[in-house]
Amino acid sequence: MKLIKNICCIGAGYVGGPTMAVIAKNNPHINVTIVDINADRIAAWNDEDLSKLPIYEPGLADIVKETRGKNLFFSTDIDTAIDTSEMIFISVNTPTKTYGKGKGMAADLKYIELCARNIADVAKTDKIVVEKSTLPVRTAEAIKSILHNTGNHVKFDILSNPEFLAEGTAVEDLLSPDRVLIGGESEEAIESLANIYRSWVSPEKILKTNLWSSELSKLTANAFLAQRISSINAISELCELTEANINEVAKAIGMDSRIGSKFLKASVGFGGSCFQKDILNLVYIARSYNLHAVADYWEQVIIMNDHQKRRFSDRLIKTLYNTVSGKKIGFLGWAFKKDTNDTRESAAIYVADHLVSEQAHIAVYDPKVSAVKVQTDLNYLNSRSEEDNLKHVVTATNPYDALKDAHAVAIMTEWDEFKTYDWHKIYTHMKKPAFIFDGRNILDKHTMETIGFEYYAIGQ
Ligand code: NAD
Ligand code: UDX
Repeated sequence: MKLIKNICCIGAGYVGGPTMAVIAKNNPHINVTIVDINADRIAAWNDEDLSKLPIYEPGLADIVKETRGKNLFFSTDIDTAIDTSEMIFISVNTPTKTYGKGKGMAADLKYIELCARNIADVAKTDKIVVEKSTLPVRTAEAIKSILHNTGNHVKFDILSNPEFLAEGTAVEDLLSPDRVLIGGESEEAIESLANIYRSWVSPEKILKTNLWSSELSKLTANAFLAQRISSINAISELCELTEANINEVAKAIGMDSRIGSKFLKASVGFGGSCFQKDILNLVYIARSYNLHAVADYWEQVIIMNDHQKRRFSDRLIKTLYNTVSGKKIGFLGWAFKKDTNDTRESAAIYVADHLVSEQAHIAVYDPKVSAVKVQTDLNYLNSRSEEDNLKHVVTATNPYDALKDAHAVAIMTEWDEFKTYDWHKIYTHMKKPAFIFDGRNILDKHTMETIGFEYYAIGQ
């Protein structure tokens, strides 16, 4: 087994940053350098003021404070970090393709290929290359081909080590993972990586597989998790018509140990950078092998999720006497889940877009998301001009301003603080009848109705 003294991680994002910070914390004898082409992001990681780190995750700033400048470094000098490291993690983004073959479905692997080529160009000594990004099954083959055709006689071992952290709990998930998955062909390379994890993860949780099982397990895990949410959301619609209560149904089925209680929260729809992208990718791969029944089966998870987001805004419009034109709707939350500043694929974006198409005025309050981010997210959809988005969607710096004179409140993210607001005060300052559409089922229906609200939740 080769002892690793220097690690390079390409990609200083939501995965690269926290993952490497935790590796550095638990391996003080290893120098970890995280590199990125985005100079602003690297500057933010290096900012003296830890509140300016580019990613908000509970507990992350403390670990960065402890390790940064000692054995954790952030840099834009990619070539030097590759050159001086024995192990290189690739942790760059793999978004859904927006052009050409596979547009809207396949993973765009151009950033992965650029990394492989960069490594091939720079490496003068043997390297272990670790796929940390989520990749289609058999991507390692392409990486291998690029690396092995450099002709510079360097030996490359390729490992797949997908990341299972969830945002908002990234540090906790990394410190005590359910499992660490390592796929590869070289037993020696696998051991070198396993040895790094053994610094804090018990050996029985380190699972070793072949490359392809590892790559496919990541897509499959996300597909199964998302499928649970679409399943409970599908039942939530039935609940709304039958006086069954989705929270009660979820509790009743979750107590069956074969089903389990986690990931059964009905919501306005799942968001985040992973679920939709990874399922679309799985569907694309299945179709490319002519497995149409398999592809259709998984695609239904996305179709159900889109339906749930649309259903939420349709219900809001219908309840507000079939028109939201000129009405103020206060949004609590914009992030795709609590405890993160990430808004990628957040249900809030799609619900807002639909309501603005109906000429609503939206005031957003999110404890961690900036006004600029809200506008960027809306503009990205290209539904109307930037000026029109600015005219229809404003961002407030406190929740009471966002909800003042509003016709309705839409709860889009389950931030804990929303439960503790002075709902009597909010009620007093809203237009009457005052409606709440709780897209996360975080408030108590009875309490809200006692205050005077007309309260609508998911599946109740
Ligand atoms: P991200 O967009 O936050 O970060 C990726 C970073 O890579 C960016 O800062 C970008 O500038 C950088 N980059 C791109 N190409 C580069 C290049 N050629 N050289 C140097 N830097 C480059 O993405 P993320 O959320 O960290 O996700 C990374 C991967 O991990 C994806 O494949 C994703 O599916 C997977 N993943 C994400 C999560 C999550 O919760 N976000 C969880 C598990 C797995
Ligand atoms: C997910 C996977 O959980 C993680 O293992 C993988 O590495 C990356 O993708 P993430 O997207 O960060 O993590 O968050 P997650 O907690 O899975 O939530 C995803 C979305 O589903 C959020 O919008 C969340 O609000 C929603 N959700 C989650 C529900 O609507 N109901 C639930 O019961 C759980």
